[in-house]
Amino acid sequence: MKVVAIHSQKGGVGKTSITLNLAHEAMSYGFETLVIDMDAQGSATFLLGQGSAPRLRAKDWLKSDIDWNSFIETTPYNGVYILPARKGLRKLDRLMSDAVSAKHLKQLLKSLKKQFDLVLIDCPAGINTVTEQAYRAADLVLVPLTPTPLCLQSYADLEDYATREINVEAGNIAPFFNRVNQRLALHRECLGSFAAGQALPPLGWVRSTTLMERMALNKQAVTDSHPEHPVSKDIDELWKAVVRRLDLHHSR
Ligand SMILES: Nc1ncnc2c1ncn2[C@@H]1O[C@H](COP(=O)(O)OP(=O)(O)OP(=O)(O)O)[C@@H](O)[C@H]1O
Ligand SMILES: [Mg+2]
Repeated sequence: MKVVAIHSQKGGVGKTSITLNLAHEAMSYGFETLVIDMDAQGSATFLLGQGSAPRLRAKDWLKSDIDWNSFIETTPYNGVYILPARKGLRKLDRLMSDAVSAKHLKQLLKSLKKQFDLVLIDCPAGINTVTEQAYRAADLVLVPLTPTPLCLQSYADLEDYATREINVEAGNIAPFFNRVNQRLALHRECLGSFAAGQALPPLGWVRSTTLMERMALNKQAVTDSHPEHPVSKDIDELWKAVVRRLDLHHSR
């Protein structure tokens, strides 16, 4: 089982949208997958949740084990499950900060090993104890970037923090571009300057399209509703790059 955290310091860069599409890709390729919504906003829960299971309370995250199956819901995607968020998750940062070890989430996830091939953690924006736990639990941290100078500056800061303060290996943090418009000179410049300054190229890039914005209306990944659209090809390329980087295979 491999764990991927989808995270960025910046809000609104596509963490949840990409999580939904990767979950659909995982289904298409036959990977049993759990999406964990760790954002109190509950956007992934809105898109994938069915409202059928009781919600895990923030304080339950502090326990040494969790009866995952009581809280996990099926989703419209066969073989994809979700641990939904609830608003009380806002307290989790404060609750966790002194109460648990740095690798608490990593330990908790171990009991899922036999059940899932892949866990996708949709993180909140910003850096706090919850996102630190996700970094320590993750085999790969996927970071969506928009091609803007401030977003790139924010990534430089995040990369520095992750590698120096949380000891994430440089190869385990994987930025990729989202909301790219190749017709905009600024976007082309940002893609170029980023590539020049990084040891590894970005894991992929996903074009900007209103189809992605409309996704929340029908709660359907674009790879599901528009499999032949170029944006679905971008996402499929990104998915394949994630699979390669993780050496993901059917583990159960
Ligand atoms: N490739 C894309 N093209 C156009 N719009 C996009 C694309 N990706 C995401 N969006 C839009 O950007 C907005 C933010 O996306 P999303 O909620 O996935 O970001 P987020 O990083 O999860 O936000 P938050 O930090 O609030 O959790 C949404 O309106 C979404 O539809
Ligand atoms: Mg989100």
